[in-house]
Amino acid sequence: MEFERPELFDFHGVSMTHYMTDNWEKVQNFKALPDDILVATYPKAGTTWMSYILDLLYFKQKDKEREKSVAIFDRVPFLEFITPGFPTGLETVESLTTRPRLIKTHLPIQFVPKSFWDNNCRMVYVARNAKDNAVSYYHFDRMNMVQPEPKDWNSFLDRFMEGKMVFGSWYDHVTGWWDKKQTYPNLLYMFYEDMVQDTGRELERLCSFLGLSTSLEERERIRGGVQFDAMKANPMANYSTDPVMDFKVSPFMRKGKVGDWKSHFTVAQNESFDEHYKMKMKNTTLTFKTTI
Ligand code: A3P
Repeated sequence: MEFERPELFDFHGVSMTHYMTDNWEKVQNFKALPDDILVATYPKAGTTWMSYILDLLYFKQKDKEREKSVAIFDRVPFLEFITPGFPTGLETVESLTTRPRLIKTHLPIQFVPKSFWDNNCRMVYVARNAKDNAVSYYHFDRMNMVQPEPKDWNSFLDRFMEGKMVFGSWYDHVTGWWDKKQTYPNLLYMFYEDMVQDTGRELERLCSFLGLSTSLEERERIRGGVQFDAMKANPMANYSTDPVMDFKVSPFMRKGKVGDWKSHFTVAQNESFDEHYKMKMKNTTLTFKTTI
């Protein structure tokens, strides 16, 4: 099947593509259930990793078949996504028979459908440092045929800094969700870097937020199954069954590292990025690790 790379356009102040907005009315009117769990991220911050962890925490023991035959994007549907010829993200959510429903979104905070708030749903946000996030996004746009053409790395980085990416500005996204966390206790804000540094500790934090009494032994098993190499080799987790991605260009599970930006940023790019970053992040208490 041929896919068409979309153009970016301004959508209520956020850069978007039609694949993320064509189903807007229905997405905004989505009826969340009180036990729904929303996994929210800026693209390339570790969405799939968190989705897979949540899926294993809730369903590993109960449904062995799921592990062998249901791809992660069908277990944790992407709410706002719509591509011709496939069920919409919303339809996939609505066809889920398992509870709780695990739902993925990249929406900035102001676009989250109202019923999630009305139902006081639990949400897990994963944030990743801007530099690695930008690098990962660049390679993703190269290989994903329903993302805009990334062009060269230098111009991509400029557009990243300007917020001209699908789902808008990284700076607005991570700080918007961070601000929400201060007043909404059912939001757990996690960091990709912490998950790489100590997956076991972060799993424990997650279980405690969710009120799960998963045993240490089971958590250890899950920790093993969600390591980068294990997920990269797992066709249900590595997106190899997704027709919009061209793995000949770049794999979805690319490096899974903190600090890979060092092999992409020139000294000059790094300096101007740091200067711009300071300005953009001057009013927030949110901080990131760019190395571990
Ligand atoms: P890289 O491109 O830097 O390798 P998302 O799921 O939000 O699209 O994020 C994808 C990024 O998360 C990719 O980063 C991918 O390799 C990384 N990732 C996925 N699973 C991971 C894991 N188990 N451990 C570490 N990184 C992981």
